[in-house]
Amino acid sequence: MIKKGIILAGGYGTRMSPLTKAVNKQLLPIYDKPLIFYPLSVLMLAGIKEILVIVNKGQLYQFKKVLEDGSRFGVKIKYIEQKTPKGLPDAFILGEKFIGKDNIALILGDNFFYAQSLTKKLKDCIKLSSGCKVLLHPVNSPELYGVALLNKNRKVIKLKEKPKGSKSNLAVTGLYFFDNRVINYSKSLKPSKRNELEIIDLLNKYKNQNKLKAEFLGRGGAWLDTGSISDFYNTSSFVSALENRQGLKIACLEEIAFNNGWIKKNQILNAIKFYGNCLYSQYLKKILKQ
Ligand code: DAU
Repeated sequence: MIKKGIILAGGYGTRMSPLTKAVNKQLLPIYDKPLIFYPLSVLMLAGIKEILVIVNKGQLYQFKKVLEDGSRFGVKIKYIEQKTPKGLPDAFILGEKFIGKDNIALILGDNFFYAQSLTKKLKDCIKLSSGCKVLLHPVNSPELYGVALLNKNRKVIKLKEKPKGSKSNLAVTGLYFFDNRVINYSKSLKPSKRNELEIIDLLNKYKNQNKLKAEFLGRGGAWLDTGSISDFYNTSSFVSALENRQGLKIACLEEIAFNNGWIKKNQILNAIKFYGNCLYSQYLKKILKQ
């Protein structure tokens, strides 16, 4: 059972400059909340309460200002700074002490998930006791992602990072579940041509030992990664359309914590004070009345 999760929220966000010159990408808004609320909500929906947030050197205070130690929404957040973006598997090297002897989930700070039965799927994924599990979803431009090629039995037979002319349109999304071997495997990786440790090389270590399983988000699900300004705009429109139609918020951290039984009504009142007079607080007031 996986009880711990890492959010990798560093990187320079160069494609989004000048916005990212002053503010880390993961703190920029997706409609009505900072981007990091969305991946954080995914870990919380999975039932994960012990969370390590990895941030850029010098930007820790920005994250702490909005997430604090997580107790406002019933989780325990620790932070580590990454000096330079050395690649995604660096999360497991930096996070070695946090992970200890446990298994671990990793979500990229710029990934957005929305799907029917997402919570059920996540709860299944955290049951992992050995090996690793990835979540796949079709995309129009596989050359921008890690891509998985499957055989007839839907088993992963090949994994490649940003392949040109791929036969598969199945991207490996930025949500991964690993057993404890991930620490040593990450340490054994060599930097790629672009001088980064590659998540695909790490996943290949598991695949080569027949220890990689793939799960699918499903056709009705949305997976968006927010690397560019237009991605931010499109994801914001998606959230705005759904929230305004349903009257239900996506990634309201206090709502998830309340439904999980992690916080009580008085903590929601404190959260309302923390956020001040805004639509998010009005939504929290609605939860209190229900
Ligand atoms: O979004 C899914 C894709 O994410 C996967 O399909 C790819 O296999 C995987 O390599 C990754 O590709 P990206 O090109 O999108 O990764 P990027 O360098 O943009 O980093 C993703 C997030 O992780 C971003 O929010 C910044 C953060 N990051 C990245 C690196 C390399 C860090 O915090 N530290 C790092 O060292």
